[in-house]
Order: sequence, then structure tokens, then C-alpha cells
Amino acid sequence: MYSLIIKGGTPLHGAVEISGAKNAALPILAATLLTREKCVIRRVPNLSDVAFMVKILNSLGARTRQRGDTITVEAERVKGLGDYELVRKMRGSVCILGPLLARLREARVSLPGGCVIGSRPIDLHLKGMRALGATIRIEGGYVHARTRRLVGAEMFLGGRAGPTVLGTANVMMAAALAEGVTIIESAACEPEVVDLANFLNAMGAHVQGAGSPTITVTGVKELHGADHEVIPDRIEAATFAIAAVATRGHVTLRGARPDHLSAVLDKLQEAGARIDRSGDGLSVRRGRQLLPLDVTTQPYAGFPTDVQAQMMVLMTQAPGISIITERIFESRFMHVSELARLGAEILIEGPSAVVKGRVRLSGAPVMASDLRASAALVVAGLVARGETRVKRIYHLDRGYERLDEKLRKLGAKVQRARD
Ligand code: EPU
Repeated sequence: MYSLIIKGGTPLHGAVEISGAKNAALPILAATLLTREKCVIRRVPNLSDVAFMVKILNSLGARTRQRGDTITVEAERVKGLGDYELVRKMRGSVCILGPLLARLREARVSLPGGCVIGSRPIDLHLKGMRALGATIRIEGGYVHARTRRLVGAEMFLGGRAGPTVLGTANVMMAAALAEGVTIIESAACEPEVVDLANFLNAMGAHVQGAGSPTITVTGVKELHGADHEVIPDRIEAATFAIAAVATRGHVTLRGARPDHLSAVLDKLQEAGARIDRSGDGLSVRRGRQLLPLDVTTQPYAGFPTDVQAQMMVLMTQAPGISIITERIFESRFMHVSELARLGAEILIEGPSAVVKGRVRLSGAPVMASDLRASAALVVAGLVARGETRVKRIYHLDRGYERLDEKLRKLGAKVQRARD
């Protein structure tokens, strides 16, 4: 196992290339199962989660080829039963359910368990599949979905915490090959859903309204191959932006989409950051004195839950008290106890974290618990005096492409070391 050893205190300076979005690439790769023809997916980030999805596609009979950041998938023949142990290991792979059901009229995927950020049910995915005419059985830890034909339907996919991103993706993919019209109300509006809709449309689907709470899918008989470039990763961009401000640096995010980052940029500006939008990038730096924030995570276009942990680190540096409220996942504060090892003073009060500001962080060994918590620990390590060892960085490799290398290019003192 590897750790990241960070010697903190160096401001990040320079330009960083933003990779393709993990959370757009995963459902798009799953969507290639909807056609027998060849699909070319570009700007795919080189991440372990992506490698995992490719493994799943291969186990289902698809042929894949990877050259640089382009993945070609040809799912000429798909068998229903892949290596379902694989699916169990990565929650994102639940989005093969929709494409398999649409293509084979039958799918069996292992029920994804909870994870450290919450219970993560898939009842809304299943509600959507049932509305399209699937019969669902849960047995032996698997979801068996079966249907004679999928028929378009009207459905409401809002849950306790709002819409579901992968649930919307799953239903959109199944509905693309259903008979008739499907209307998804309370659909997720995330840019990753829009990217998937664009890919499906490039394959010959009729998806309208993606990016709004009402998505209409008019089913077609068949989809064909397509060539698609994945959107840049807004969460990676946000993480670098926060790291720039936290270390008093100045970083240009090349290729980032400011229109996907409104809530994060708005909060950074409120906290005192200077943001310049120019050319193909977005440059972010610490402006005047930092200010404390009141941040609540929300579905898009609100502040993303995937940036909550990183923003919390920045708030340890602002004077005064900041409040960060998590409304999407019930236990996404695992980073708090690890940040305490670095000297952070954060109190959890129900769904809110009360963050005491202007704290001097000092390096310590810390343990990463999930992807975004790990990213937050890295940002904290960059700010802290002395050496921080972030253990279990396989979490980071799931979602950040060459993070250590990119940080080194910006001047950070970061090394990967075997434990
Ligand atoms: N929910 C239900 N029922 C469902 C599905 C979701 O109640 O059937 C609830 C969840 O428990 C949660 C809320 O709805 O409270 C939102 O969950 P959502 O389904 O939107 O999450 P997801 O689609 O499983 C994706 C990302 C997550 C990101 C969330 C929220 C991928 C692969 N994952 O998960 O990304 O946090 O949307 O934006 O796209 C990450 O990248 O680190 C990550 C966790």
C-alpha cells in the first residue's frame, strides 16, 4: 500500500490540466453496452474506478481498447452474467443495470452495500426500472431485473435527499431503448447527467431536458456507435482551486468549465478568493483576508457534497467560525477526526460541522477513509507545517488522475511512498 508524504507550507503556483470527469466517464462507459457498434470515448481519466468499469465491460463480453485517454468499446455480444463480484466492489458500477436490462431484457447486479459516507440505497433506481415494466427480485445479495419489454412511463425520482444522479442515469439508459415516451420528474441536473444524455443522443437516442428536473426520453429501436469526449472533472477542478486558496497560491485550471463550478466559485469568492476567467482556463488565488463561510451541500446547481471536505479544510484557515452542513449523505464527516490530528478544531452538530478558523495545522500521519476525505487530507497536508503522511491513498487513485504528479508540477512537496 502507498502513502503520500507531504511537506506542507509551499504555495501552489502554475497551471494544471483538468482531467475528464470520473462521474461522467463511468455511466458513459456503461452506456456503451446499449449498442453492438463501436464507441469511442475520449478524455477518459486514468483512474482505478475507470479500470474497474472496463474490467466489468470485459467480463460482460465487450471488447475494449485503451490508448492514452481514449477508450474504445465494442459490445457486439453481451452476456448477461458477468463477474458480479466486481460490481459489488464499486458502487458506480450499479449503472450497468439500465443498459443490460434494455439490451438483454434481463440483468443481475450485486446490490451495492453502504459505504463510509452513508447507507447509499438504490430504491429509486429500482422504482424507475419497475415503472418501465421490469420485475425486480432481490435475492442472495443480487438484484435480478427482468422484463419481456420495457415501456416508457412517467415517474418521479426524487428521494429523501433530492434527486439521484446514478438513478437518473440508469433510468435514462434503460428508457433510451424502451417503447414510447418516458418522463423523469425530479431528475438530477448534474453536468454528468447532461454529458451522458449528450452521449446517448450521439448514439441515436432522443433525450430532451437533461440538466433540468424534467427529462423526456423517447425510446428508439436501436442505438448505434458514437464518438464522445467526456466533460472536465468539476470536482478535481474545485479541489485544485481550494488548494490554491488554502496555500496562498495562484493556480490556473486549464480546461475547467466555470459554468459547472458556479456554486464553488461563488463560495470561494465569498471567502475572499480572486477568480479570473480567461481563455481556456480559470485562475484562482487568495485575495484579501479569508472570511468564514456558511455552506450547505445540495444537489446541482447547489454546492456539491463532493467538495464539502476540501472546503472544510479551507475554513480552518479563515478567521471566525464557519458552518458546513451536509444534506446529501448522512455520514460524510469521516475526515473530521483525521483533520483533528493535524490540529483542526471542528465540532459535529447533527448534519453540521462547526469549524473554528485560523488554526495552525501541523503535519501528522492520517488515514484516508474515502475519496473526497482523502483529497481534503491532502489539501490539509499542503497547508500544514511539517510532514503529513496520508495513508491508504488507493482511495485517491480511484478519483484523482496523477494527483501527486500534478501537485508537484505546481510546486508542492509531495512524494508517493510504499508503507
Ligand atoms: N438515494 C436514495 N435512493 C436511491 C439513490 C440515492 O435515497 O435509490 C439518496 C442517497 O442515499 C443520497 C442521495 O440520494 O442521500 C443522493 O445520492 P445519488 O444517488 O445522487 O448519489 P450517486 O448517484 O450514488 C453520485 C456520485 C457521488 C456523488 C453523488 C452526489 C458517481 C459514481 N457517484 O453518486 O460521487 O457524491 O452522486 O452528487 O457518480 C465521489 O465521486 O466521491 C462520489 C461519492
